[in-house]
Amino acid sequence: MHQDLRPGVVFNEEDSNTTNNPAFEQVLETRLSRRSLLRGGAGVAGATALGATALTGCATQGAPAAAVNALGFKAVSKSIADVVTVPEGYTAQVLYGLGDPLTASTPAFKNDGTDTDWGSRAGDHHDGIEWFSLDASGQPSRSFNSRGLLAMNHEATTDEKLTSFFIHADGGKASLPRQAGEVDKELMIHGLSVVEVQSDGKRWNYKTSSPFNRRVTTMTEAVISGPARGSAHLVTKYSQDGTRTRGTLNNCGTGKTPWGTYVSGEENWFGYFFRDAQDDDRRKKDKHVQALNRYGRKAGAASRHGWESGGADDRFVRWNNGALATSAKDDYRNEMNSFGYVVELDPYNPKEVLRKRTALGRMGHENVTFAKPVAGQPVVAYMGDDARGEYIYKFVSDAKWDPADANATNRIAAGDKYLDKGKLFAARFKDDGNGEWLELSVDNPVIANSSYFEFKDNADVAIFTRLAADAVSATKMDRPEWGGVNPRNGEVYFTLTNNSNRNVATADAANPRVYTDLKAGKEQKGNVHGHIVRFIEPNPAATTFKWDIYLFASEADADKARVNLSGLTDDNDLSSPDGLVFSPATGICWIQTDDGAYTDKTNCMLLAALPGQVGDGGTKTLQHGDKTVTTYAGKAQTPATLKRFLVGPRGAEITGICETPDGRAIFVNIQHPGENTKMADIGNPAKFESQWPTNAGYGPGQRPRSATIVITKNDGGVVGT
Ligand code: FEO
Ligand code: CA
Ligand code: CA
Repeated sequence: MHQDLRPGVVFNEEDSNTTNNPAFEQVLETRLSRRSLLRGGAGVAGATALGATALTGCATQGAPAAAVNALGFKAVSKSIADVVTVPEGYTAQVLYGLGDPLTASTPAFKNDGTDTDWGSRAGDHHDGIEWFSLDASGQPSRSFNSRGLLAMNHEATTDEKLTSFFIHADGGKASLPRQAGEVDKELMIHGLSVVEVQSDGKRWNYKTSSPFNRRVTTMTEAVISGPARGSAHLVTKYSQDGTRTRGTLNNCGTGKTPWGTYVSGEENWFGYFFRDAQDDDRRKKDKHVQALNRYGRKAGAASRHGWESGGADDRFVRWNNGALATSAKDDYRNEMNSFGYVVELDPYNPKEVLRKRTALGRMGHENVTFAKPVAGQPVVAYMGDDARGEYIYKFVSDAKWDPADANATNRIAAGDKYLDKGKLFAARFKDDGNGEWLELSVDNPVIANSSYFEFKDNADVAIFTRLAADAVSATKMDRPEWGGVNPRNGEVYFTLTNNSNRNVATADAANPRVYTDLKAGKEQKGNVHGHIVRFIEPNPAATTFKWDIYLFASEADADKARVNLSGLTDDNDLSSPDGLVFSPATGICWIQTDDGAYTDKTNCMLLAALPGQVGDGGTKTLQHGDKTVTTYAGKAQTPATLKRFLVGPRGAEITGICETPDGRAIFVNIQHPGENTKMADIGNPAKFESQWPTNAGYGPGQRPRSATIVITKNDGGVVGT
């Protein structure tokens, strides 16, 4: 979701890092020379090594596509039409929308706000999405192309004043106390879903009666795993020993583990909780108050939906995280500490319980992207914390990769092995183009001896991760969103979507732009359009890297010396890159936007890129008044290297993308079409900002719905080539 530029939404304005992360001293240790990192020495494999490994003996339908060197489609124009536009020669089909039934006995969706049974329907705000093949007999596969599972996030809902208005007949009651029946629906439309899909060679369909179909909601049992398991900071009335919680919330980006499970990041969860104005005093201003404020939950601030006001039942009371009883065992003061993690789900096993992988830290998680695993080496995952001024992280497992685990039959046990023990790091981007990973554990004296926050053990680091990264002075970035690993060379990319707080005083080499953009005549300031940083490491477990800025997002007609530094044109200009996924089949880097800055000229979009490598450009010097910032820019882009592939309907962000192993079908999520609709117009569809996907033939009703689309090439070819 937008944080900065979405009109009328202020609840997450507080979710930005305004802490005094002190300027760090430049350590005079021997630095990794930018030149010494030879490309071939990075220990990464070429794209030809990406061939899938079968989970079980299964049929392969056609060979995997080879990495491509050219984008074989005509760029799609910017548009504010209420449609999904794809290039000539391609077809986009709506496959799975909000409210679609996931069991044979669930009534058809009416889309008029009277639907019930939300625990067995598709959730709202489709976000990150991953593909898991099934073979012809329904067994897990790594290579089958016409049948599989889509696992996806249902991040949030389209709101106005507390209520998720499109799922209530009259828009709902937009004041406190909330009505229990409305809250119950809203509790169930968040979370995850797994849905089986298949193609008959002409069309794709989802199955309403697959035994794999599954919903995970805010109420689903989840197990705390990793260093925070059993921590006193996780003790609640529901879990007296701090080992369990219920549900997952505000799930944004996703990932696929090397052992074949689904991982998902909990992002803006803090806004769903409430504590009253007296709670700081009640807690005697202890370290929890510092942590609650750092994580965006100030005493007295309203919660996003007011769920805590739904009644006396535990399912409502749990959203009040005030210290209200005499003991943490009798209230939900710690409930918020059980959110903010990466969760792991085995999509192939609907009975397997959801795991919260606390070793990967607690933050506004976007996605998780894995380095290509190497036998005998640690498993490495990269993650962004999406709020203004937050950090980029990586996790390095203690366990060394055993390639046999790619075919593990107990996939969650493999997750226990690789994701529960390891080291967490936060990134420092230095002005000279080098970088270092700062260890977040009590083994690091800076953390163990911190006067900034008391870290008693690594459970504290796992739960209060942002404070640990503050303590080591990681680099405050312009909202780290999705990360991706380039299969061609192992380089790691992170979108930095935008930052309205970036200013001349805080501009640095890795976040160098501060400028003013006009949107319909109104000034927007900071880093309005965002950028994409990338780095290369000697090996994924290394503690050093070198970086540059692959892409500066910009409007085509912006100043080429200060803003449009990547030379973008009408074929490839964009604002607010968010989703970023490298295709395993083709190596194409897919970039998606969640933009509130350029929407006077175009709806959000999906672009295809063939990026080069760190160091393929040069230095650029930006003058901000009397302050000079020197940065490292990748080479300028052309339509041959970056091109618009899709423009979405009005009000929607484009988020989440995955593909069949052969790259001949891609699945893309369209999130919150029509989100700027006024609740007062709920009975007047002509006034809706969007009527997609009904206007694309996917009914019923006229209320806009988040949905998954599938895109294929009309000649059956590989998408993007
Ligand atoms: Fe849910 Fe950072 O976007
Ligand atoms: Ca503009
Ligand atoms: Ca996102």
